[in-house]
Amino acid sequence: MCGIIGYTGPRACKGLLLDGLERLEYRGYDSTGIVLLEEDGLVRDRTTGKVAELRALVGANHSSARLGMGHTRWATHGGVEDRNAHPFLSNDGRLAVLMNGIFENYVDLRAEVAAAGHELSSETDTEALVHLLSEVYDGDLVEAVRRVYPRLEGHFAFLVMAADEPERIVAARHAWPPLVVGRGDGETFIASFLPAFLEQTRQVQYVVEDEVVDVSPSGARFWPMAGGPAIEREIEEADASIEVAEKGGYETFMLKEIYEQPTAIADTIGERYRNGALHLDGIGLSDSELASVNRVLIVGCGTALHAGLVGRYLIEEWAGIATEADVASEWRYRNPVFDPSTLVLAISQSGETADTLAAMQLARERGAKVVVITNVMGSAATRAADGVLYTRAGLEIGVASTKCFTAQVTLLTLLALRLAQLRWRLSPEQVSAIGSELARLPELAQRVLDDPALEAKVDMIARRFAHDRFFLFLGRHIGFPICLEGALKLKEISYIPTDAYPGGEMKHGPIALLSDDTPVVAVATDSHVFEKMISNIQEVRARKAHVIAIATEGNDAIAIHADHVLYVPRTIEELQPVLAVIPLQLIAYRIARTLGLDVDRPRNLAKTVTVE
Ligand code: G6P
Repeated sequence: MCGIIGYTGPRACKGLLLDGLERLEYRGYDSTGIVLLEEDGLVRDRTTGKVAELRALVGANHSSARLGMGHTRWATHGGVEDRNAHPFLSNDGRLAVLMNGIFENYVDLRAEVAAAGHELSSETDTEALVHLLSEVYDGDLVEAVRRVYPRLEGHFAFLVMAADEPERIVAARHAWPPLVVGRGDGETFIASFLPAFLEQTRQVQYVVEDEVVDVSPSGARFWPMAGGPAIEREIEEADASIEVAEKGGYETFMLKEIYEQPTAIADTIGERYRNGALHLDGIGLSDSELASVNRVLIVGCGTALHAGLVGRYLIEEWAGIATEADVASEWRYRNPVFDPSTLVLAISQSGETADTLAAMQLARERGAKVVVITNVMGSAATRAADGVLYTRAGLEIGVASTKCFTAQVTLLTLLALRLAQLRWRLSPEQVSAIGSELARLPELAQRVLDDPALEAKVDMIARRFAHDRFFLFLGRHIGFPICLEGALKLKEISYIPTDAYPGGEMKHGPIALLSDDTPVVAVATDSHVFEKMISNIQEVRARKAHVIAIATEGNDAIAIHADHVLYVPRTIEELQPVLAVIPLQLIAYRIARTLGLDVDRPRNLAKTVTVE
């Protein structure tokens, strides 16, 4: 999604802005641009290419500009074309604007500025803002923003600068798109996301909705948009665990993150489980409130939802609480039925996904308690929830989520256990037995990653099947969400169409797709539905499709049912998903690399989806 960075201070800022944009690249974008205040006025460059291309475009020439803003765009209104890339300039070239989000009333706003004689050069909603501002601007950007702001509808965060105010950036945000100020020594940054300037400063101030922010080299001042005295805003030290993204010797961020899973799982368990005792600090509900939850509704998008689907099995199995997991963007537009004894559990790696945030808001408005599982400290979701459970996976850069998925499932496992414990659905001995197995998961995940036989098979499978036209993923019970996740990984980064089906449902449709050139990935780890899964595999083989099975170490019998078997270590059935998903991540990864694709920045996708 769109990324924003601005700088004002004593340094020549072109390089700082380009570096910041590179730090935001992983969020996904299709064009990028920059505006600098040079001696003879605002100079803008933009391109539908990558930041590296923008860097080439702006050239190595010395720029003395000490005020500037940069943007990465993920197209919503208007195609991927240079003319739709931000920043936008007023017709007299004196004002520049860039934005993350959407102005929902953009049709009216564009018509209005066109009628007022402004020449529109793009198809975007954002351009309307710069023209509206130029209508009212008379040398004070803060005042101009205040006057125009009530006209804007939607969810957005924007920055504005003017040729006549050489040290100032003015910013505002409404609804979920974030903005954060970075306070340096005599210089100030403002960005949509911390890593954009984290190498320069860790002193930060978060911008709150509906205030106007005046950014200058000496810092930032915050006022309520509607008027009133300035707001004191605490300066915080950015959490030390927020790293600046580095590949650390791996060829891609995604591969690095796949290999970081044992650590992510171990850190997520941390001190939360010890010798039969569970501590879920931050959950925001008392033990008695947790014990009286009579229904759990899980909402999320993409990979987070798949983790939630695993969580559903765990909570129902151990805690005996009716649990559903639903797509946030669908759930919020149904008329969902729940009451205050329902626990709404939102899952969001970024904590910024617009649909998940909106679902949380709806749940709270209707009186339910909302707990969020997220990986990002201080993200919008943490402010919209009664309680927060952090996965401790570290910054995830790869658009295709990997370590956050296994960390989310780990946390859901802990939560399901805690609910079971509080409701006396599992004996202390059972909790201890599951807890001990959970504590072994990091080591078992490491074994999967260190297994040379598995690596060789994944390579062979990638070479053998990378050019096939379709992959089917089949699984049953808790193995089914793992198939959804495996199918999503493969389609996201290899662009090969995939489908994931519960094994028993295959004969009601996807079986028609099978032929002797269809690879079918079957999650067939040992479980109470193993025999059923074998029957489904037989149905696949009877259609001459190729079976790639994920199975439990020691289960030699499966070899006669599958063309290729990838073994994962044995653990209890409920924890198997965390191990079974790793070979699926590796298969997707190797296929995409075999096809020569950019796995960290797959086309059209964004890491953090801040629009509905
Ligand atoms: C995007 C990302 C996915 C992610 C989903 C939900 O689609 O590409 O990797 O699973 O958003 O994001 P969240 O931050 O809410 O978990």
